[in-house]
Order: sequence, then C-alpha cells, then structure tokens
Amino acid sequence: MSTRVIAFVNFKGGVGKTANVVNIGAALAKYHDRKVLIVDLDAQSNASLWLMHPEHWRAWTRDLSRTVYQIFNDHIVGTDLFRFSRAVVRGVPHKNNFPLIANLDLLPSAVKMISIENKIHQNRFALSYSFLYKTMKPYFEGYDYVFLDCPPNLYTITRNAIFAADYCVIPYIPDFLSLSGFEVLVDEVQDFYDRMSGRLTGRKRPQVAAFIINHFEKKKNVFELGVNELKLAIQQIKPSGKIHPQADILHPYIRFNVHVAESTSEHLPVILHNPQSIGAADYTDLAQNFKIHFEETL
Ligand SMILES: Nc1ncnc2c1ncn2[C@@H]1O[C@H](COP(=O)(O)OP(=O)(O)OP(=O)(O)O)[C@@H](O)[C@H]1O
Ligand SMILES: [Mg+2]
Repeated sequence: MSTRVIAFVNFKGGVGKTANVVNIGAALAKYHDRKVLIVDLDAQSNASLWLMHPEHWRAWTRDLSRTVYQIFNDHIVGTDLFRFSRAVVRGVPHKNNFPLIANLDLLPSAVKMISIENKIHQNRFALSYSFLYKTMKPYFEGYDYVFLDCPPNLYTITRNAIFAADYCVIPYIPDFLSLSGFEVLVDEVQDFYDRMSGRLTGRKRPQVAAFIINHFEKKKNVFELGVNELKLAIQQIKPSGKIHPQADILHPYIRFNVHVAESTSEHLPVILHNPQSIGAADYTDLAQNFKIHFEETL
C-alpha cells in the first residue's frame, strides 16, 4: 500500500486536531494493522503528551535532536543533526517500557518549536515551506499513514505540513468555526499550493479530502444547523475544484465524551483508556470509515 500523508489542519484551537490524530491513528494501527506515524508539529506538544508520560517526554526532548525541532533547525542553521531512527518513539504508548500499540510510532515535538516561526521569518528562506518534506520524505515511505498534527494557525509550520501532505483533513466543531472561516481555510490551502506550484517538482496538489465533526451533541440544535451549513458549503465549493471531488464529512460524528477528555491525562488513546466508552466506539467506527475513504473512495 502506498503511503498517505495527511495534515490535520484548522486555524482554530481546540477543534479536535490532536484528538483525531491520536485516536484515529491508534485505531488504524491496532485494529487494521496499518503502520502509522504521528508527527507532532505543535509547540504545545499535546500529541506527544497524549502518547508519552511527561517524565519520558521530558527526558526524550532534553536532547532536541530527537524531536521535530531538529528537522527545522537543521535547515535554518545548516546542520545535519536530525536522525529519524533516534528521534522516533516506536510502539506508543508505552507501559513499563513495553510498547502497547506495535504499529503506532510518534515523532515528538518540543516546546522549543515555538522559536522556529521567528527564526524562519528572520532568515526569509525562499524554500522554508519544504523543510519538513525534504527531510522526512524517505521515512514517510515506511508507513501506511503519516498524520501531521498542526498547531492552530496557518503559519510556516502548518504550511510545511500542507506542502508535505497528500491530503488535508479539517476537524470541525459546528458551533465553533463560522463558514466564512471554512472558506478562508480552503482558499488558504489552495492559494498556498498555487503560489508554490512554480517551485514544486513532482509534488501532487494537496487536497482537502475530509471533514471530521467533533464534540457533537445531538440535543443542541446549533450542531445540526452547523453540520447542515457545512454540507451545503461543501456542495457549493466542489464545482470550483478547490477541494477533492470526493471530499466529505466522515461518519460517525465524534460525540463529546468525558472519557476522551480523561484519556489525555492518562496518556492513552481512548480505545486503550476505556474500550467500552462512547468515545472508543465513535473512534473505532470513524477509523473504519476513514480507512475506506482514503483507501477506496478517493
Ligand atoms: N470527543 C471529545 N470529547 C471530549 N473531549 C474531547 C473530545 N475531543 C477532544 N477533546 C478534548 O478537547 C480538548 C481539545 O481537543 P484537541 O486538543 O484535540 O484540539 P486541537 O484542535 O488539537 O487543539 P489545539 O489547536 O490547541 O492544538 C482536549 O483536551 C481533548 O482532550
Ligand atoms: Mg492540537
């Protein structure tokens, strides 16, 4: 199976980018035998801390060459210190040093990532959007899925993710992101590609290919309305070719579930933290449909 590199993008914070990356990644690796790499590109390091215990993560990231920071810093200062085999944490999460999901790997982030945007701006690199792709391309090939967990903005780090990606997924909370926001986001992905295309050699156009609804609450009318508006917006935008012709909202909508929230601080994907929970059921079903969408429909 060829690798699918997928960036989870939204300039809004707290819409479920990290929750989706961690929980869909875990379910694909555990139940579908897919080899999955999660790349944490956010200085907040939420994905890293969802899948690693804080002491483990702190010890690991003390050596910055074992984090995504090194990928960017190598390009900025002209060093060659990043080694994927040293940086990747295999079989996350771990319990007593034992890997719990053999097929799930993590490339952790570090708080120091916060300095990268500034450094790139100060240096005004012409090709700063291709740093991630250039360094990681050979390692992506060892995986069925690479999930890029982006920070909540559309600056350079996110643009690196979009540049490296085959597809973009937009996590969405219906009462959170206005539809004008949705259109701006799609336009940004598109404009960015168009601006870069002169310099692109052999890069396929990264396309918005799926939307995932999080924090869904059926009781709340505003959610139904929000989803319907999104459906309409997707229909309307398709003829423009700005998103993938098969782009769609994936099912099921992930319901708000306290066990998902709890699993963050347990440092476990919800399918391990509480396999009987609604959150685990939703993510198990979503991963199944995610696989069909990306492997059969697109
Ligand atoms: N379905 C859910 N039910 C309950 N809590 C959830 C659910 N999905 C996510 N959360 C919690 O909501 C918070 C925000 O989610 P998440 O971190 O995935 O958003 P994000 O888009 O990655 O945010 P950021 O932009 O800050 O990176 C987290 O604490 C997460 O544990
Ligand atoms: Mg996040």
